[in-house]
Amino acid sequence: MGFRFEFFLVLISILSAPVLSDLILSKVDRRIDLTSQVVRIASTLKVENTGNDVVSEVLLAFPDHQAKNMAYLKAASNVGKGRSKTSVSLSVKVVHPKGMPPALTLYSVTLPKGLGKKESFTLDILAVLTHSLQPFPEEITQADAQLVMFQDSAYYLSPYETKIQSLSVVLPSARYEFYTKIHNTKVVDSEIRYGPYENLPPFSYSPIVVHFENNQPFAVAQRLVREIEISHWGNVQVTEDYDIVHGGAQIKGGFSRIDYQARPYVRGASSFRHLIARLPPRAHSVYYRDQIGNISTSHLRGDSKKTELLIEPRYPMFGGWKTSFTVGYGLPLRDFLFESEGKRFLNFSFGCPMDGVVIDDLIVKVVLPEGSKDISVSVPFPVMQLQEIKYSHLDIVGRPVVVLEKTNVVPEYNLHFQVYYKFNNLSLLREPMMLVFGFFFLFVACIVYMHADMSISKSSASYLAKLQWDEVQAAVQQVQNNMNRCLAVHDKLEASLRDLSRTGDVQACKAARKAADGLLKELSKELKPLLGFLQSSPQAAQLWPKIQELVGKEKELQEKLMLKHSTVVDSYEKKSGGREIENRVASHQQKLTALRQEVDDLLDIISEI
Ligand SMILES: *[C@@H]1O[C@H](CO)[C@@H](O)[C@H](O)[C@H]1NC(C)=O
Ligand SMILES: *[C@@H]1O[C@H](CO)[C@@H](O)[C@H](O)[C@H]1NC(C)=O
Repeated sequence: MGFRFEFFLVLISILSAPVLSDLILSKVDRRIDLTSQVVRIASTLKVENTGNDVVSEVLLAFPDHQAKNMAYLKAASNVGKGRSKTSVSLSVKVVHPKGMPPALTLYSVTLPKGLGKKESFTLDILAVLTHSLQPFPEEITQADAQLVMFQDSAYYLSPYETKIQSLSVVLPSARYEFYTKIHNTKVVDSEIRYGPYENLPPFSYSPIVVHFENNQPFAVAQRLVREIEISHWGNVQVTEDYDIVHGGAQIKGGFSRIDYQARPYVRGASSFRHLIARLPPRAHSVYYRDQIGNISTSHLRGDSKKTELLIEPRYPMFGGWKTSFTVGYGLPLRDFLFESEGKRFLNFSFGCPMDGVVIDDLIVKVVLPEGSKDISVSVPFPVMQLQEIKYSHLDIVGRPVVVLEKTNVVPEYNLHFQVYYKFNNLSLLREPMMLVFGFFFLFVACIVYMHADMSISKSSASYLAKLQWDEVQAAVQQVQNNMNRCLAVHDKLEASLRDLSRTGDVQACKAARKAADGLLKELSKELKPLLGFLQSSPQAAQLWPKIQELVGKEKELQEKLMLKHSTVVDSYEKKSGGREIENRVASHQQKLTALRQEVDDLLDIISEI
């Protein structure tokens, strides 16, 4: 054998052993189960009191190297007979009695009742060890099977004399490299049997080594955080963050996916491709994601008893490889939250829902509803406990969080624990009230906004009004323009009259009159629609009288001017004297000047608007 072992206790030290009590083990049957990555040692001890004193405790001895990997140690006894036989677990604690051999850890089991003289009692002991199967070789290639070693003693290590004993070591398959042979050793299929051995003194120890193939998934959660959040609105939300490593022999050389895919069970025997999470029945909204995103290669199936989630990481897991992912699911509150003596309590499973996963560090967080009080926790085994506060949306004081932490967790810890708390139902209304008020304020805000919106539409109406006002102004301007052009025509007519008096050219004057009539007619035509618009436009209502006055005065002015013009031209044709003409025109002229003044004034007023 090329490998070296450190054995912690080889000596049989009868002389140094103290006289503990007069107990003997009249029969010991041991079975070491090596079919998974954890080691399960189940022993049945028949304890007999050969002394006179009543004995109430039995000591169990484990080598330190096993004790340090001890994940679970349970002592139980069967009470009743036949069908009514039930298992009662007994209290176990580490003790340090004096004068023990070195490198041993001792545990004391308290018997349910004292054992009198000649009485006997049967104990069932289950010890679960993790990280106790040592890969050898430590590095293998993708194609290699994984070989591991386990060491123990062929004799039951005990501070008591043992009358008769046997051991069986169960392997995952009949493929083994080596096992230690002593007398009375035989192999039956995948089981190695040692014994029976008789009359062995206390602390008898005979080292054995088993080197065998074990391709079971060595899935180790280096860290698992389970968050269980209670919502009194009917849901328990569970979020589990896993950091998984393949705890077996490290893979050396490259990994070939092609090789792997061609023959996964040959070219990747030591790897595992999936894990199965057994979730409670009625789990809903199940998801499985990693840093990259949702992984759709998970499969969910369920019935009324359970929900099974098959988790397939993105790559097959070989020794030393790691993966991190999150599994989340919702559960109906009524399945997990109960009431007792005025308190509510959550009754939930502690361990990992995944088959065969060893957890180095498990943190279970129970997030209680905001306002929970008088919190207490009941866990059927020792754990580290502390409390935190978690804040989520709508929280004011935050939610109390019970944090439970345990290292070295095996499936045996998939037991139920309870978190008790008091909760005032009014607190339940706090969040909805906040929502109600929230919505109320939202409504108020909406109404304010609507008002704002109305003012916007008002202002858009005013914008429209402004546009209309602009149109009115433009129309007014055009009216002014029109009037000014009329006045210009008037000026031309006056000028033609002055020319007439100078030249006496009646025809030219008549021609000027004709042109002026034409222009004025045109201008009057242009004016009509403008006036129509202004008359009908409400914005022009205030202006309208002035415009009407202006237009009226201009018309009057025009008529008087035409009258004057006709009179003068007429007089010239009749060859009246200059003096006579002046007399005839004089009355008109006064009126004309006054009207012209009025028109000019009105134009000024209007242009100021
Ligand atoms: C992942 O799946 C969950 C549940 O089905 C879903 O709510 C979430 O939006 C998904 N996320 C992505 C990134 O697809
Ligand atoms: C918690 O639930 C388990 C499984 O349903 C049940 O066996 C156990 O009695 C419950 N514990 C309490 C305290 O209700």
